[in-house]
Amino acid sequence: DNIIKMSVSNKKSQCLDYKNKLILAPMVRVGTLPMRLLALEMGADIVYTEELVDLKLIKSVRRPNPALDTIDFVDPSDGTIVFRTCALEKSRVVLQLGTSDASRALTVSKLVEHDIAGIDINMGCPKEFSIKGGMGAALLAEPDKAAHILSTLCSQLDIPVTCKIRILPDIFETIKLVQQLAATGIAAIGVHARTRDERPQHRPHPDVLRALTSAVDIPIIANGGSRGIHTHEDIYKFQKLCGADSVMIARAAQQNVSIFRREGLLPIDDVICKYLRLSVDYDNAPHNTKYCVQSILKELQETARGKRFLQCQTLQQICEIWQLGDYCRSRQQHYKLHGNIGRSEVVP
Ligand code: FNR
Repeated sequence: DNIIKMSVSNKKSQCLDYKNKLILAPMVRVGTLPMRLLALEMGADIVYTEELVDLKLIKSVRRPNPALDTIDFVDPSDGTIVFRTCALEKSRVVLQLGTSDASRALTVSKLVEHDIAGIDINMGCPKEFSIKGGMGAALLAEPDKAAHILSTLCSQLDIPVTCKIRILPDIFETIKLVQQLAATGIAAIGVHARTRDERPQHRPHPDVLRALTSAVDIPIIANGGSRGIHTHEDIYKFQKLCGADSVMIARAAQQNVSIFRREGLLPIDDVICKYLRLSVDYDNAPHNTKYCVQSILKELQETARGKRFLQCQTLQQICEIWQLGDYCRSRQQHYKLHGNIGRSEVVP
């Protein structure tokens, strides 16, 4: 019995470690496979997926995709790919779940457990959709429910579990909450250094994060610093300010994911080309690729090239603008020859 227990705990301790890490934060629409892979290539240690809502993921079917060498979780009703991942990121990808229910969260986690490195529960999203469903920041007001979700997952999964919260208006309440969540067995806790009602343009509160790091033993992942992160060094300045074990970056990476690069930022055209190649390699949905390129281009969408880009509807058209038309054409030809990417066999 003891031997079995030891091997179980070893198994958990051998996997993902959240200390001293640079992390791509969860971002809806941004954190899909090509961006996650590019973040890893640029130097991120861990990458979070966009938030995936349990009710949506629970309906999906796991389909290995031999043409792309990916694992797809597909909505069987319309063929939408809810989550696509691959072996390259398996040891470093954390799937963020939107949930308000422990047993549903467990069912979904079991579905994806063997294809990912960790599960994170979103407890910070202030959007109406999340709050109404009892998800995201709604869980901050229900700490017992939040703790129950986490302890259920921690006791039943072989991979580490984390959560991402926002701070509360009161520092002592925040410490109490973090201590209660830490006691569930989670491996680390991501903290966006703003309250539920504060917006991205408001200053973050690194002092609160500093207080949290001395209040719990698990790693604190500091988040919310993008406003002041313009260079790679700025990441460490924010980390130091927060006294945190690790840092998680959203907007600075959305604008230029080479922020993770120790050698310095790459010009945005280089970033776009790398991102487009990965979009082609993993047959990313064109509207998703377009959204990500738009968030890199920002005001450059007003230029003649930017306007041409905004007209694009296919991956091929987008690639033409960055001289990757031939690359896109030949890869897509290859996929056609090697099986239909959207319709591989269902594996129960
Ligand atoms: C986000 N954020 C977010 N948070 C989360 O827990 N799950 C999510 O799916 C998303 N989605 C998302 C999309 C986009 C486009 C942005 C900009 C942000 C919040 C994000 O992870 C982070 O907490 C904040 O952006 C603060 O960190 P930065 O931007 O200062 O590094």
